[in-house]
Amino acid sequence: MKPPAHTPHPSRSAAHLLPQGQKGTPRRAVLLSGLALAACGRASVQAAPAAAPLKALVPAPVGVAVMRGQLEDTAWTTLARREISQLTPEWEMKMEYILAQDGGWRFDAPDRIATFARASGMRLHGHALIWYSQGQDWFEAIKPARRAAAFDDYIAVVAGRYRGQLAGWDVVNEAVAEDGDGLRSCHWSAQFGQDGYIARAFAQTRAADPDAVLFLNDYNLENLPRKGATFLRLVERLLAAGAPITGIGTQGHLDIDIPAGQITAFMRDAAAFGLPIHVSELDAPMGAGLLDRARRDARRALQTARVMEYAEAFAALPERQRYAFTLWGLRDGDSFVNRQGGGDSPLAFDDAGRPTALHQALVQGFSAPATVRKERG
Ligand code: XIL
Repeated sequence: MKPPAHTPHPSRSAAHLLPQGQKGTPRRAVLLSGLALAACGRASVQAAPAAAPLKALVPAPVGVAVMRGQLEDTAWTTLARREISQLTPEWEMKMEYILAQDGGWRFDAPDRIATFARASGMRLHGHALIWYSQGQDWFEAIKPARRAAAFDDYIAVVAGRYRGQLAGWDVVNEAVAEDGDGLRSCHWSAQFGQDGYIARAFAQTRAADPDAVLFLNDYNLENLPRKGATFLRLVERLLAAGAPITGIGTQGHLDIDIPAGQITAFMRDAAAFGLPIHVSELDAPMGAGLLDRARRDARRALQTARVMEYAEAFAALPERQRYAFTLWGLRDGDSFVNRQGGGDSPLAFDDAGRPTALHQALVQGFSAPATVRKERG
């Protein structure tokens, strides 16, 4: 199945991708405004639409997941342009979109997102080239003797198309077993072996894009310390084997019931590799029963504590290791958590674009005095 011809983008360093807004606002002034807002407590944050933009508050690009349809929603684009400095396509840069049912290749939606990011001065993060949960029918319909070439060709075409347009790729997503006991078995590992498909994907992506930061991305790394440990052992093993992994992605779909300290411990262990770290898909669902005020307040308190911990742990990283801090959606209603029945508040803005309690937790976490989160060199 031949993809459409595409003109590879001239290879440029990723430096030109840094968002403009990142450099403008003096952080101390913004932090003080953040502190003032946080000190005023919830009501004033809700009532103060002029809170400092997240992209000025967070000491790294602030990302959100985006779907093409949201680019036609001026409420979404206005809020995103004010607050955000990086975009991750939520699903339209994945195999399930690009490999159309009719055997063709679809790039209209990811191209639209890439164009919007560039026009808005935002960085683009690619998600996700190889994922255990997609591509099985396509791959297994290919004659076994052609599968290696098809795997390599997919990566070459997709990563080649966005070369020079994005800062980094989630090259392999969710390779570790659900319970952290080893790696997942999937159609990719059946063909190339468990470490084999991951190493191959990274090598092929590096060949297609010499500049992008290449991430191994996974979830529950802080929620389940065993899974986080397995993930980091995998990174260590692949690096030792020469795989060009140049970034670590921790999705951050938070379980707010985890003990204090697990987030900090994982981020400390991940930081030891010296690689850029992407908090790549943060959300913090509070669960059911939120109509009960006492329960809602109790869940909010746990959410605030864990989100503050993530913000402080990320801010404590050396600047060269703070790749980006990405939320898996802009407004609560955009969250995939709310797609099977809404009512949760797992993100930083409500459906009217007002800061939520999670936003306040980010303000407090990223405004913690420097002495609290002294950079580790
Ligand atoms: C989810 C998207 O939010 C949904 O819109 C899509 O239908 C399925 O994928 N970890 C990931 C993301 O890496 O790609 C997933 O996103 C959420 C879990």
